[in-house]
Formats: sequence, structure tokens, C-alpha cells
Amino acid sequence: MKKLLVTGTGGYIGCMLGPYLEKHGDQVTGVDTGYYLDGWLYNGLRQTPKMIIKDIRNITTQDLEGYDAVIHLAELSNDPLGQHNPEVTYQINHIGSVELAKRAKAAGVQQFIYTSSCSVYGVGTDDIKNEETPPQPQTAYAQCKVLVERDVQALADDHFSPTFLRNATAFGASPRMRFDVVLNNLSGLAWTTKEIRLTSDGSPWRPLVHVLDICEAVRCTLAAPRDAVHGQIFNVGDTQANYRVREIAEIVSETFPGCGLSIGKSDGDNRSYRVSFDKIKACLPDFQCKYTPRHGAEELRKVFEYIDMSSDTFQFRAFTRLKQLKHLINTHQIDEQFFWREM
Ligand SMILES: NC(=O)c1ccc[n+]([C@@H]2O[C@H](COP(=O)([O-])OP(=O)(O)OC[C@H]3O[C@@H](n4cnc5c(N)ncnc54)[C@H](O)[C@@H]3O)[C@@H](O)[C@H]2O)c1
Repeated sequence: MKKLLVTGTGGYIGCMLGPYLEKHGDQVTGVDTGYYLDGWLYNGLRQTPKMIIKDIRNITTQDLEGYDAVIHLAELSNDPLGQHNPEVTYQINHIGSVELAKRAKAAGVQQFIYTSSCSVYGVGTDDIKNEETPPQPQTAYAQCKVLVERDVQALADDHFSPTFLRNATAFGASPRMRFDVVLNNLSGLAWTTKEIRLTSDGSPWRPLVHVLDICEAVRCTLAAPRDAVHGQIFNVGDTQANYRVREIAEIVSETFPGCGLSIGKSDGDNRSYRVSFDKIKACLPDFQCKYTPRHGAEELRKVFEYIDMSSDTFQFRAFTRLKQLKHLINTHQIDEQFFWREM
């Protein structure tokens, strides 16, 4: 049994990852500042690990003592959030993450797993990107991912072993739902409006991965021999799961009975990225994606049926990361640096 600290357990992936790792026999403590704790779509978890409410920027070396591994997810988690305030994004996502890794190393933590993103590849061509492809980040969010990979890689030595998991775009059900990722968003639209209208022709490619397959990649990284993962970057997903946006829309509309689908004309914006996920399969033979986008859409339909999801719930601010952060700013609950204000 390993003693694990998982950051971001109040979020979409982290909320599923903590219980997943506990179910596989590890002992998990979560940390999160709690930006999205207003949102809990459904109660689908049997056990949740204990969660410390703390900003990663305030985590001390002492807080990190005694853990075998840190799995770090807690960041501002998408491009629109990053673009909304690039300065704070650098403070949390770049500086905050690198300082956390340095403190983990100082505390004697042996392994550090960082959830990076396929968005580091940027956009542009139909070429298939792999881990050797030079990153071309287009946004503050993606730029920070590249900077964290670089700076945490530099900390790797005999006593500190980082691994960088570049996740595809996630989908699937989680109590701390995100409706601002493509498949979940389209599924919510299909359920609440019975119509998906793409304004463009939907030709861009998007690699997708189920939230539980991301959890499995973390589990496999923790279980792997050190040499297989030390200092390594892995794209997390399945090479078969590079879809065009219109294919994702088709899958969703087929899964939600009575849902119409209309596809627009090419708007000349053909920004795409296709990704190879062959390396993770080769280096972590236990890893395999179990869930397709069709499984994800079906799972979401069942959850929506189960909770009789209303339009208001679908549009609730806490399920769209940027809406919730704007709400916390506008209601003066967090300050300019996104620290909670004392009331
Ligand atoms: N969801 C995806 O499609 C996807 C794809 C690739 C990579 N990732 C990465 O995976 C990680 C988790 O993503 P997610 O979808 O669960 O995002 P999320 O926004 O649902 O969760 C992030 C969590 O981090 C917390 N957090 C943010 N800043 C913090 C801080 N300063 N201190 C403490 N906690 C803080 C938030 O409160 C939130 O609970 C992120 O690093 C994200 O960039 C996600």
C-alpha cells in the first residue's frame, strides 16, 4: 500500500481518482482549494478520501512529509480559464506546480505524477503528434504545462522520479461534473434541448479519453517499474480515439433518442490535432483504455435520466469552470490572486 497525496480532488478528474486509487489498495489524502465545491451533480461514489482544503501555493514541505507519491492535478484547468487571467494562471499553474514539486522533493517524496495535456501540441495540421513532437502551446494554459514539464523534469534524480501524463480531452460522468469539455457539453445539450447545432463543419480532430482511463493511467504509472516511467512523458488516450468534432456530435446525437443534429459550413478554422498514444501502450503494457466516447455518452444519458437533469442544472455555474471562477471574483469571494478572502 502506498501513501498518496492527490491534489485537485475537489475537481472533475480528482474526485474520481481518489476513490479509484483507494479501491486499488492505496491510501489517499486529497488537497483542493475548493473553487467548484458548489457543484455536485449526483452521488455516485461509495467512498471519498479525506480532503484538506488548502491552496497548493500554501502547501509546505512539512505537509508533504511521509507520502510515497504526489499526484498533482490542482490547476486552473482549461484554455478559457488561462486566457481570462494569464498572470494568475502562471502563478498557480507554472510557479505553484513547480514549487509544489520542489517541496515534495525536499520532503523526501519519491514519485511525482503531473497531469499535463495534449493541448501542449497546439494546433495547425493533420500530422499525428507524439511525445517527440516539439510542443507548440498556443495559450497561457498550454504554455504553463510545457514550463512545468521542463522545470520539474530538471528536478529528476535518484530520489525523485517525475512522470508527465499528457491527457487527451476528458469525458464521462463525475460528481464534480464539467460541462465545458466537448463530449459532456454536447451530451448536456442533447438531453436538455434535443438538438446539437454545430456552427462549423466540425472537421477538427480532438483526441478523447474517459476520466476513468486517466485514473487507470495514473494507477499504472504508480505500479510500473521506476525505469519505465522515470522522467517520462506519456500521451494518455488511445490512438483509435482521435475523433473529428462532428463524429463526436454524431455519436452523442445517436445516443440521445430524438436528438437532432445539424452541421454548419467550413468556417476556415481547421485547427486540429491528432495524437499518437502508442508510447504509453508500449511502456505500460497494463494500460488500456476501456471506455469509448459512445460508452461515455451512454453513461451520461443514464446519469441525466437518473437525476432527471434540468436545464438549470446543466447550466449551473459550478459545472463550467470559467463561469464559477467569474462568480467567485464578482462576488468578492476570491481576491486578484484567486486566494479566498476572509469574510
Ligand atoms: N479535463 C480534461 O479534459 C483535462 C485534459 C488534460 C489535462 N487535464 C488536467 O488535469 C487536471 C485536472 O483537471 P480537471 O478536469 O479535473 O479540472 P477541474 O477544474 O475540475 O479540477 C481542478 C481542481 O483543482 C483545484 N485548484 C485549482 N487551483 C488550485 C489551487 N491554487 N490550489 C488548490 N486547488 C486548486 C480546483 O478547485 C479544482 O477542484 C488539470 O491539471 C488539468 O489541466 C484535464
